[in-house]
Amino acid sequence: MTSSASSSAGSAPKKDPWELPDVSGLTVGVLGGTGDQGRGLAYRLARAGQRVVIGSRAAERAEQAAAEIGHGVEGAENAECARRSDIVIVAVPWEGHRKTVESLRTELRDKLVVDCVNPLGFDKKGAYALVPEEGSAAEQAAALLPESRVTAAFHHLSAVLLSDPEVAEIETDVMVLGEVRADCEIVQALAARIPGMRGVFAGRLRNAHQVESLVANLISVNRRYKAHAGVRLTDI
Ligand SMILES: NC(=O)c1ccc[n+]([C@@H]2O[C@H](COP(=O)([O-])OP(=O)(O)OC[C@H]3O[C@@H](n4cnc5c(N)ncnc54)[C@H](OP(=O)(O)O)[C@@H]3O)[C@@H](O)[C@H]2O)c1
Repeated sequence: MTSSASSSAGSAPKKDPWELPDVSGLTVGVLGGTGDQGRGLAYRLARAGQRVVIGSRAAERAEQAAAEIGHGVEGAENAECARRSDIVIVAVPWEGHRKTVESLRTELRDKLVVDCVNPLGFDKKGAYALVPEEGSAAEQAAALLPESRVTAAFHHLSAVLLSDPEVAEIETDVMVLGEVRADCEIVQALAARIPGMRGVFAGRLRNAHQVESLVANLISVNRRYKAHAGVRLTDI
């Protein structure tokens, strides 16, 4: 048998990378969902028909924010939000990331966790990227949650655009990172639920730092051009 015959006989047909699973029946939780990013994501996903539970350190704050967002969004304390969800987005400030993630290890066991936290510092020159000990916020989450399926995505979204009901489509790509391709595909499919948005696989978690850091550049762009810049990947 020639080498080309043996390789074609042994390899499965290549899967279309844009063929993504149906995630419409999954419940999405958003830790820190009372903040700008969490509210925006919850609003967009719920408006697209996803079941969404937002979390907070205080159940009343979550319930109040959920009522304000509407579209059937529910609110609960962070631990209860994690328990009730299939996919859990971590949308707390970097300062509270370690403590939040660490405290929910049990509730997040076996769950698909999506970290969207950008570790940034700010000084009089503007925003700059911090370098977490573990390499990135996502790698910190993965280290703290060995029994969860940790991915990283939704870093480059504008909370202002997400929350604006006049904006019909969010024209942007979402870079999705993770160790397990099937988990990334679920997150890509979730991003694609939002009109205008596309989820693109962008590598393993060891490359999350650059993706998280890029937000410092986007903040500079936004300040210079008074915009809400996002990211589009070309030729794919
Ligand atoms: N804003 C954006 O446009 C944007 C875009 C992409 C990614 N992100 C990332 O998303 C995350 C959230 O951003 P945000 O602008 O929504 O932040 P935020 O409004 O400052 O905080 C989000 C929520 O986190 C909770 N929180 C605050 N401090 C906390 C702490 N120390 N420990 C645990 N929870 C705490 C608060 O909810 P409770 O008080 O109700 O618990 C708050 O409403 C950040 O890591 C950011 O890098 C933001």
